[in-house]
Amino acid sequence: MPTQIDDRPTASQSYTLNDWQQGYRSLKQEFDYWIDDIEGQIPPELHGTLFRNGPGLLDINGQRIHHPFDGDGMISAIAFADGRAHYRNRFVRTEAYLAEQAAGKILYRGVFGTQKPGGWLANFFDLRIKNIANTQVIYWGEKLLALWEAAQPYRLDPRTLETLGLDDLNGVLSPGSAFAAHPRIDPHALADGAPRLVNFSVKPGLSTTIAIYELNQAGQVVQHHTHAVPGFAFIHDFAITPNYCIFFQNPVTFNPFPFLLGWSGAGECVAFKPDQPTRVLVIPRDPTQPLQTLETQSGFVFHHANAFEEAGAIYIDSICYQSLPTVEPGSDYREVDFSALHPGQLWRFKLDLNAGTTERQLLEGRCCEFPAIHPAKVGRSHRYIYIGAAHAAEGNHPLQGILKLDVETGDRQFWSAAPQGFAGEPVFVPRPDATAEDDGWLLSLFYNAATERSELVILDARDLTPGPIARLHLRHHVPYGLHGSFTPKYFEATP
Ligand code: CO
Repeated sequence: MPTQIDDRPTASQSYTLNDWQQGYRSLKQEFDYWIDDIEGQIPPELHGTLFRNGPGLLDINGQRIHHPFDGDGMISAIAFADGRAHYRNRFVRTEAYLAEQAAGKILYRGVFGTQKPGGWLANFFDLRIKNIANTQVIYWGEKLLALWEAAQPYRLDPRTLETLGLDDLNGVLSPGSAFAAHPRIDPHALADGAPRLVNFSVKPGLSTTIAIYELNQAGQVVQHHTHAVPGFAFIHDFAITPNYCIFFQNPVTFNPFPFLLGWSGAGECVAFKPDQPTRVLVIPRDPTQPLQTLETQSGFVFHHANAFEEAGAIYIDSICYQSLPTVEPGSDYREVDFSALHPGQLWRFKLDLNAGTTERQLLEGRCCEFPAIHPAKVGRSHRYIYIGAAHAAEGNHPLQGILKLDVETGDRQFWSAAPQGFAGEPVFVPRPDATAEDDGWLLSLFYNAATERSELVILDARDLTPGPIARLHLRHHVPYGLHGSFTPKYFEATP
C-alpha cells in the first residue's frame, strides 16, 4: 500500500479520515435555541422530545482522553411541536465532571485507558472509576435518567437538563451498584398487559452476577432477581421477549493486574478469545424458572436489534464482530485504520430451547451498527430493522448512512450522506395513529464535515431512498454520540 497523501475520497473509499476525525472534538459550550436553519419541512405531527447522550468532552482542559468511551456525558434534547424544533445541550454534572472542571485537569482513571498524568505511580491501585453517565438517556416513570453501565444513573430535569443527582430507583439500587445503559421497554408485560422497562446490571468477577430489574410505568421496581454465571462477562446489551431476557456472554478473559498496577485501563485488560464459543444466557423473566445456557459461534456482540419467541425457539438479531478491536495503551483512537478491523454485521440466531441448540444466519453483510425497530415490536417478531451503515457494501468503514432491512422479503433501502456526512444511531418514531410497521420517521444526528456542524436528519421510514424530508442544521457540531430515545412528551423549550 502506498502512503496515502491525497486524503480525498476515492472510488474505493467514500470518506477521508480527516473529515471523520473532526467529529471527535469537544463541545464545551451549552446552547438553547430554536433551530432555524432547516432544509425541507419538519412533519407537523412529529410531537415529542428526542434525547441523545454521548461523550461531550474529548479532553479536559487540553489533556486528551484516551478513548471516547471515557468522555463526560452530554445530553442533547431536541423538542418537536407544530413543525418547529428547539435544541438544548447540557453536560451531566457528575461528581467527577464537577471536580475535573474545577481542577482543570484529569483526576480520574477511565475504564477505556484514560490515565491520570504522572505515570503508573499516580495510577497505582487507584480504583476510583469515573461515573461518566454518557451512554443512554431515557424518560421513564416521570424521570429523565442518564445511564452508564458501571454505575447508578444520574437523574436530570427533562425540561432544563439540569442534573438533579444520582438516582437509586426509589431505594432499590444500593450505593456503588450499577444499572446498564440498555433498558428495553416491553410494550405489554405478561403480568399485567402494561408497558414495563426491563434492564439489568452486571457485576463482573471470576464469577459474574447478573441482576434483572423490571419497572412499571410509575418507575417502581416490580421485579428484581439475580443470577450467578461462571466466568468473567463483558455484557453491554441484552434483548427481551415476553418470557425471557437473553444475554450473549462474549468469549473474553480479564486480567486485572495491569489495571490494578496502574499500567492500563480496565478496558485494555479484556482479551477476546475467538476460538471459544459465545455463551447465550437465557434468563426467564419469571424468577422461579431456571436459567438456561446455550452455545454459539458468534464473535463479539455489543448490540442486539430485537428478539422474539416462535414455536419453542427464540430468535435474536444481533450485530456481530469477528473479533474485538483491542484498546492499545498509547494508541490514538482517531488514527484508526478502518480497513484493518472487522465490520459489524447483522446476524439472526435461532435458539432451540428444547434441543439446547443454536443456528445462525447472516442477515446483512454491510458494515453496520446501532440497530433500531418500531417500539411496539420489542420482544415480538419484527419486519423492519433500521440501522446505521457504511456507504460501501463491503469492508469496514465509518457509518455514513441509514439502512432499512425488510427481514421478511430481504428488501433493502439505503440513504447515505457520503462523502462528508457521518451517521449516528437512528431512532424510529411511529406516526400518530399509524398502523403499518414502517409508518413513521427515523431521527438521526449526523456530523457534516463540509459545514463542521451536526444536523438532525429526518427520514420517512416508509421510503429512505429519496433522502431526508428535513435536515435541521445545528449551529455547532455535536461529538459522535452513543444512544438516544424519544418520548412523545414535549418538554417546554423555555421555562
Ligand atoms: Co450501546
